[in-house]
Amino acid sequence: MRKFIIDTDTASDDAVALVMALQYPDIDVLAITTVAGNVPLKQGTQNALYTVELCGKDTPVYAGCAKPILRNLSTAENVHGNDGMGDIGLPLNGRIPADGHGVDILREVINANANDITLITLGPLTNVAVALLREPELAQKVSHCYIMGGIGSGHGNITPGAEFNVWVDPEAAKIVFESGMPITMVGWDISWKYATFNKAESDDIRQIGTPLAEFVVDIQATLDEYAKAESGLAGFDLPDPITVAIAIDPSIGEFKQYHVDVTTGDGLARGLTMVDILGATGKDAQISVCTSADRKKFIEQLKASVRA
Ligand code: RIB
Ligand code: CA
Repeated sequence: MRKFIIDTDTASDDAVALVMALQYPDIDVLAITTVAGNVPLKQGTQNALYTVELCGKDTPVYAGCAKPILRNLSTAENVHGNDGMGDIGLPLNGRIPADGHGVDILREVINANANDITLITLGPLTNVAVALLREPELAQKVSHCYIMGGIGSGHGNITPGAEFNVWVDPEAAKIVFESGMPITMVGWDISWKYATFNKAESDDIRQIGTPLAEFVVDIQATLDEYAKAESGLAGFDLPDPITVAIAIDPSIGEFKQYHVDVTTGDGLARGLTMVDILGATGKDAQISVCTSADRKKFIEQLKASVRA
């Protein structure tokens, strides 16, 4: 079994990513840590707990940081719904997270599985950054870290140049990107190019007819409206799921090694992931940037995860 630990600001696309990881036959998700982002921490934690229960798993969920390191929290209920899960009336409350702070759990689990664990981040990088500040050596104990975040090429989704996870806590992202941890960055460009679903394509998934198949589509209700109205897409896109799919099967993606800088200014200078395509900085090409993905393989993996 391959060991994963997933850090997430659980809203509608994160939930699908959790389903894919939890349902995959040779993946053992040792823990899920939650972080504030799409929705406040308490809601994201409830959403993660609900998703784990729906999958019939007992994977522990630990709440982490409730706000970015320096900045006030910016959430995205306008994108994912007030409850983060499409406001379709799911009972997303009353579940109890495991004892322990997400940052401490990241450290404990990585140390207990040094060089034999894959870290996947699906939200702002606050928890991971704080863990790395506390114990910089963690960077050398993670086999690989797959980050849904940043922009590999093209436009942003929260400002013209920035992607939400990096923009919410750019200081955290800078700490993580400069930590020396082996990182693959799956930017939002990969999502809108290879993981967007129009009505026919989402119906094709929902018609599998299982509770999970209906869940992964129905919770995208708000995201679907937002994507069409604001992102210029044909329907909802799934950035976190395609990131998990690539972490599970890297053959889905193509990658190039580049130096990536994160900006921590304000205004349009906030949260940019400057990919040094031409090597102009002369700095170490420390990040593996996903440059394309195999949509067919992604959808096959997604469908397989909801057939149970
Ligand atoms: O920019 C997309 C990312 O921000 C996704 O992880 C989404 O869930 C939000 O966290
Ligand atoms: Ca997310």
